[in-house]
Amino acid sequence: MTIEKPSVLKTVIPAQAGIQRLSLMPEIEIQGLIMKHQWKPICAIADIPVLGARVVNRANATDVAVFRNSEDKVFALLDKCPHKGGPLSQGIVFGERVACPLHNWNIELPTGCAATPDEGCTQRFSVKIEDGKVFLDLNELNELNVAEVRAA
Ligand code: FES
Repeated sequence: MTIEKPSVLKTVIPAQAGIQRLSLMPEIEIQGLIMKHQWKPICAIADIPVLGARVVNRANATDVAVFRNSEDKVFALLDKCPHKGGPLSQGIVFGERVACPLHNWNIELPTGCAATPDEGCTQRFSVKIEDGKVFLDLNELNELNVAEVRAA
């Protein structure tokens, strides 16, 4: 059986561009601050290959990988494996997991955590699906793991 490597598409989000405020959305906590979601349209679900990923580039921060599984569920994780930083967007998606392309750790897409016996988690990002479109939270895109990357 041949397993094709999933294709990876790119989306670039300039920092602070196109802030869209939606009211009545749940709040999120980022670095101790309570904030409302600010949903940013990323792409259509159909733009993400089934069992593949799309990469959202961020200014001064690690990319975010947006995955689509065979049931059209969409997940977003920092594109950095918790083991040694492998690009998860280039891994193999199966069920609700992605197998890292470097050393084959299995990462749970809903949580970003490695499946046992491996340990460690990568950052997960909130995802909203509406009318066939994928939205990520702009606050999270601007804040989560930015400090870590800047310090590196
Ligand atoms: S870097 Fe992902 S399994 Fe090693």
